[in-house]
Amino acid sequence: MNTNIEYRPLGNSGLMVSTIGLGCNNFGRPKTRTETQEGTNEVITAAIDAGITLFDTADIYGGTRGLSETLMGNALRGRRDDVVLATKFGLSMQGMNGPDWGAFGSRRYIRRAIESSLTRLQTDWIDLYQYHRPDGITPLDETLAALDELIAEGKVRYIGHSNFDGWQIADAEFRAQLAGHPKFISAQNEYSLISRGVEAEVLPAVNAYGLGFLPFFPLFNGLFTGKYSRSGGPSEGRLVSIRPEALEGVDWDAMERFQAFCDERDISMLAATFGWFLAQPGVTSVIAGATLASQVAQNAEAGSAWKPNSEEEAAISGFFPVH
Ligand SMILES: NC(=O)c1ccc[n+]([C@@H]2O[C@H](COP(=O)([O-])OP(=O)(O)OC[C@H]3O[C@@H](n4cnc5c(N)ncnc54)[C@H](OP(=O)(O)O)[C@@H]3O)[C@@H](O)[C@H]2O)c1
Repeated sequence: MNTNIEYRPLGNSGLMVSTIGLGCNNFGRPKTRTETQEGTNEVITAAIDAGITLFDTADIYGGTRGLSETLMGNALRGRRDDVVLATKFGLSMQGMNGPDWGAFGSRRYIRRAIESSLTRLQTDWIDLYQYHRPDGITPLDETLAALDELIAEGKVRYIGHSNFDGWQIADAEFRAQLAGHPKFISAQNEYSLISRGVEAEVLPAVNAYGLGFLPFFPLFNGLFTGKYSRSGGPSEGRLVSIRPEALEGVDWDAMERFQAFCDERDISMLAATFGWFLAQPGVTSVIAGATLASQVAQNAEAGSAWKPNSEEEAAISGFFPVH
């Protein structure tokens, strides 16, 4: 497949990633094609064929903890070098990593979590190891020191965080600098056209400290594919089955204004959404999820199809006022 996907450094680092990434929380998810190894293989192959290199998973993803990593480990056999593998630790593995008392950022816990992820992913190294959410117990200095050890041992190449507030991003930067630890190079938080909370404090911190930003739920679980409308949408799918209440709260007037904007330019809503994201300062890669190979192929193509000028970027932002 021929796409024009671009590659950018993730924040202030030399880690090059595709501007369209693949969110991997559908692998092993019940009632999806990607619940199975076969379905996972199809999506991963389609992604690699389309030029996608960044694969974002977590130890907790999958119908059972660890399943997304396990399916990915199998799917990536022989192709590990072709991808930038990002995973996360820091949310409950429901005892799979032994007793943890909720201290998921502790040195004791991290040592165990990394070995489990490496085993499931069938690899010797993680390209981007992300702290999924601050645990509220462990001093960040301890977490940074433990991650520093993993980098020194070659088990981890770069580190990132997720669900940090703006002040926590600044605090992490300061602590890493003071102790001489490697810095987090990326931040991952929820961000979409209708979920814009990060614009207040997180994105300014990301840009001040030169992090790369990876928006999660970028398509609002499928809303910005254009397959839902005021009159309905598919009866099955991520949004209807998992977040039906979110669908009820959608501002359909705004969605229709956005659709008209796309129609005027003869572009898909997907292309306009990816184009808008990639014009936001700090956003490095849009890690959209997919349950089918055809979706990932479509996303890769849409992601490199259209770039807004500054008026168009502002117009899209304006369709969805920030409350
Ligand atoms: N750090 C965190 O705390 C955190 C939390 C959540 C997620 N994440 C990350 O964010 C990633 C993305 O999240 P997400 O997948 O839930 O949300 P998303 O990217 O906003 O939406 C993706 C969903 O939209 C549908 N879709 C995608 N492309 C499509 C296309 N071309 N045509 C039609 N439908 C399409 C698919 O669902 P259906 O086929 O079911 O409609 C797909 O699962 C995750 O995989 C994960 O890596 C991180």
